[in-house]
Amino acid sequence: MKSEKKLSAFDKFARKNIPALEKNLLRLLPASGSLLNKSRKPTILDRSLVYCMKTGGKRIRPVLFMAVATAINKKNTKSELGKLRDFACGIEFLHSYSLVHDDIMDGDDMRRGLATVCKKFGSATAILAGDALLTRGLEILYGCHFGAAAIINAGVGSPGMIAGQAADMECGGAKKRSEKALWYIHMNKTAAFFSSICAAGAAASGASEKELVKLASFGSNLGLAFQVRDDMLDRTGDRKKYKKSRNDEKNDKLTVLSFHTLADSQKIIDGITSRAESFIKKLPYDTSVLSSLLEKLRVREF
Ligand code: IPE
Ligand code: IPE
Ligand code: MG
Ligand code: MG
Ligand code: MG
Repeated sequence: MKSEKKLSAFDKFARKNIPALEKNLLRLLPASGSLLNKSRKPTILDRSLVYCMKTGGKRIRPVLFMAVATAINKKNTKSELGKLRDFACGIEFLHSYSLVHDDIMDGDDMRRGLATVCKKFGSATAILAGDALLTRGLEILYGCHFGAAAIINAGVGSPGMIAGQAADMECGGAKKRSEKALWYIHMNKTAAFFSSICAAGAAASGASEKELVKLASFGSNLGLAFQVRDDMLDRTGDRKKYKKSRNDEKNDKLTVLSFHTLADSQKIIDGITSRAESFIKKLPYDTSVLSSLLEKLRVREF
């Protein structure tokens, strides 16, 4: 295990925040009723939902939200902090839903080193599990911070993540494909959510409109770099670290590697990363956790 000294600012922040978030994820999990009543047997839907949460993941998005919100307002009361944590869990539910449905669409059978929800429980249950996570996620967000929730709702909606996923499906295997289409897909399927998470963190903590716009641009570039690196890892990722199906080539997906070499793709990520940094450089609070996350994602291996 890495010693506390060698951990980056982001890793320290994540290590401090993830245990409470994970506890909350299970508490807030949507249930069809039987999970709340111990005398009844959990349904297949209940089991699939617990599986979604227990298979882990990096928890980048909820931690990013906490990092933005607590950088802006360091003096949250216990109850404000609880609300932020619940909001962060709503974000993770939305992310989780997007993965469950994405795996059906991409025909993938491995994620986080385990069977995907569709492989383990079947597509019908996976569709319903995704639906349950999406609706419960939004319910939690709106219950915590109405304005911030509307921002996330737009990021994961259409236009936003859904438009990006639709274009991703449409371009897979298509004859004529442009680089413009690639950036449209990445900006929408991934960057829009990251951008909305940062903007929501700003809104929930009372940042000024100018600051919110800068944080949204930071998040958008962070998300874009994240997806480009994901495209690279789909080809080069170490099986043991990356732990998910690598089917982009088989599915003839439109990815950064459709137009660029691996070395050039890394240069693209480096450029996007510096652009992201420029948006937070002059903010009037400590953004070291955000900068440290940027660097982590620039060279991530999983
Ligand atoms: C995967 O996201 C989906 C993409 C946008 C590439 P993550 O890599 O954050 O997934 P988990 O939650 O850590 O498994
Ligand atoms: C999916 O992109 C982005 C989402 C909105 C879920 P990918 O299809 O590349 O994600 P992975 O590689 O399966 O995680
Ligand atoms: Mg996929
Ligand atoms: Mg996909
Ligand atoms: Mg991928």
